Amino acid sequence: MRILSGIQPSGKLHIGNYFGMMKPAIELQEQGEAYLFIANYHAMTTVQDPAALRSMTMDVALDFLACGIDPNKTAFYRQSDVPEVHELAWLLSTLTPMGLLERCHSYKDKVAKGMAASHGLFAYPVLMAADILAVNSNVVPVGRDQKQHVEVTRDLAIRFNNAFGEVFTIPEPSIREDVAVVPGVDGQKMSKSYGNTLEIFNEGKPLKKRVMKILTDSKELEDAKDPDTCNVYALYTLFASAEEQAELAECYRAGGMGYGHAKTALLEKMNEHFGPMREKRTELSADMDYVNDVLRQGAEKASVLARETLKNARQAVGLE
Ligand code: ADP
Ligand code: TRP
Repeated sequence: MRILSGIQPSGKLHIGNYFGMMKPAIELQEQGEAYLFIANYHAMTTVQDPAALRSMTMDVALDFLACGIDPNKTAFYRQSDVPEVHELAWLLSTLTPMGLLERCHSYKDKVAKGMAASHGLFAYPVLMAADILAVNSNVVPVGRDQKQHVEVTRDLAIRFNNAFGEVFTIPEPSIREDVAVVPGVDGQKMSKSYGNTLEIFNEGKPLKKRVMKILTDSKELEDAKDPDTCNVYALYTLFASAEEQAELAECYRAGGMGYGHAKTALLEKMNEHFGPMREKRTELSADMDYVNDVLRQGAEKASVLARETLKNARQAVGLE
């Protein structure tokens, strides 16, 4: 089974990204032939500052390697190191009905939020289809927000195969329904666009300050509290064992424990969980040659597949 996923390098990774995307990707590398790439072409639809694009790309590379992506198990690469996806995107785009792209929620949402409606933003799902089909991935793990894009990919692959013969594997989305939406410090979905994140690689005083800011109700120390409606508790459950969760829930219900105490427990858990990853990241960042080598080798592995697929597709449509 071949598995492929991608992430845009568009900001500091937070614990929503970690539990929603990174941890599942790290677990999946044990289950098949894994491909994971940094979608820097896609990020250009929103990031138009070259220095920022470069540094965010390397930040994401460091983050993933520090969190447990093993380059011996996963081909980890920069999207732009496999430029074959562009030619493939063109071949696919000639079969893509405008209406299919016009129905994409992600495009409509971004434009509704005031983003300029560029051709790149509109054609985003076609490039995503090319990413997936280039390596003939069987499974594409994504968050719910990306499900429609994988459906577009399936639609385009089926159209292409019907028109020109069996070139592409039809991929299945694997939606992480069991992964809860991680709340941010204000209780809304944690997202860099809401400014409510707890960053994985934040630490020390700045992290403590963020954790202490998590919004709670205004119950007094001695009052009984409800763990099921508390953001601090919800975040704590991501890190704690079942027994630890039950213990904290008991303290909430009994009263006599303040939210400050729960926040300190959460902070300790976060430091325990991410401490070794922070150390690893510091080590890796002192050896960027190694990180670049990993990305290059990953790209070579993906390129072998992409070149083969492109050759088949070019022959099928009559370019060769
Ligand atoms: P953001 O909302 O911060 O811009 P992205 O949209 O770039 O994050 O998401 C990258 C990945 O992380 C996606 O797979 C998405 O499903 C996952 N993700 C983002 N925020 C959360 C969250 N709060 N809870 C769970 N998963 C999340
Ligand atoms: N669009 C995805 C996101 O924003 C990133 C992405 C680009 C991707 N190409 C992909 C994900 C191919 C899976 C497969 O999260």
